[in-house]
Amino acid sequence: MTSPIPGGLLIGAATSAHQVEGGNCRNDVWAAERAPGSPFLEPSGQAADSWNRWEEDVRLAAALGLDAYRFSLEWSRVEPSPGKLDKKAVGHYQRMVQACRDAGVQPVVTLHHFTSPLWLAQQGGWTDPRAAGCFARFVEMVLPVLDQVDLVLTINEPTILVEWSHRLTVPPQAGPDARVRDTVLAAHREAVDILHGDRAGRQVGLTLALHDWEVLPGGEQLAAQLQDEEEDWWLRSLAGDDVVGVQTYTCKTVGPHGVVPPGADEPTTLTGWRVRPRAVAATARRAAAVSGLPVVVTENGIATDDDDLRWDYVRQALAAVSELLTDGVDVRGWFYWSLLDNFEWLQGYAPTFGLIEVDRRTLERRVRPSGLRLAELLRTRS
Ligand code: BGC
Repeated sequence: MTSPIPGGLLIGAATSAHQVEGGNCRNDVWAAERAPGSPFLEPSGQAADSWNRWEEDVRLAAALGLDAYRFSLEWSRVEPSPGKLDKKAVGHYQRMVQACRDAGVQPVVTLHHFTSPLWLAQQGGWTDPRAAGCFARFVEMVLPVLDQVDLVLTINEPTILVEWSHRLTVPPQAGPDARVRDTVLAAHREAVDILHGDRAGRQVGLTLALHDWEVLPGGEQLAAQLQDEEEDWWLRSLAGDDVVGVQTYTCKTVGPHGVVPPGADEPTTLTGWRVRPRAVAATARRAAAVSGLPVVVTENGIATDDDDLRWDYVRQALAAVSELLTDGVDVRGWFYWSLLDNFEWLQGYAPTFGLIEVDRRTLERRVRPSGLRLAELLRTRS
């Protein structure tokens, strides 16, 4: 049985610039994809060519009946060299926002989704505390894009950004630096102030990668410590925000000796994760309780070549969200990751998350049955 989608819940799908636009040759990840001994299985190249095909993507999101489309701005396009604004890139994103609004799809914009300009990476990237000020300058530059955007997400998954910061500098640095976390949080705080100062009533937050923690006997202390360091520390640091973005895919299983990877006989997704469609129940509940903020589930989904499994995941995730609402948890929205198949970072193009399939050869888009079923559910929502 498919549970109906509650009326007031904003339903959308998400992408990020580097994963779909293609040709983002001026950022740190593009450089890392090509560096000698790169851990990336393949380079992003053309991605889904959404820099050119974005109108079709917005049309498809509207045709699916989605309330909202979450996409990100590519900093290296807007500010290709320090302090130099590319007005054409700003115009491009302004047109995207307008097209969404014209199509009846609410644009939700992420300002930083993992990638930074190469010039920032060359001056130490996020390992250099000056990055916070550079990010603030970028936020000022894109205010015209955000004019009609009611929900802005500053930084995507800061924990991953911190974990990767030293590897994305040019040249790469030896190890993670504990101070990066403070720099990223400072950048977020400055961005929130700028965005609130620019327009009253705009909702601002960041997004966090959260897991459903599964604890094996003897792993209790370690699990509590990891959960606190990786997730709850951030949830406790969000005073002054309007919402918290929850991004959930799976569980993290912890035993006495550390994180336990899935066993050979356990079913996993194309990204190698345990299949946990109801993970969102625990993460959204915890995010709301610890942060005290309303929750928007900004990413939730599965990489699979079995589209029935994808639909089962969506159905169960939405049922879990409905139950949270019944329990009084303040969940405002749910975004599937991803609107379309895209560049899954280190793992390249093999993991397919899309409600829309992208032919890797022709880049043609085809809505998957799961996308059609979600569209049908949206048409009949309570
Ligand atoms: C990221 C996305 C990524 C997805 C699946 C999230 O961590 O925000 O960029 O594609 O998870 O791995």
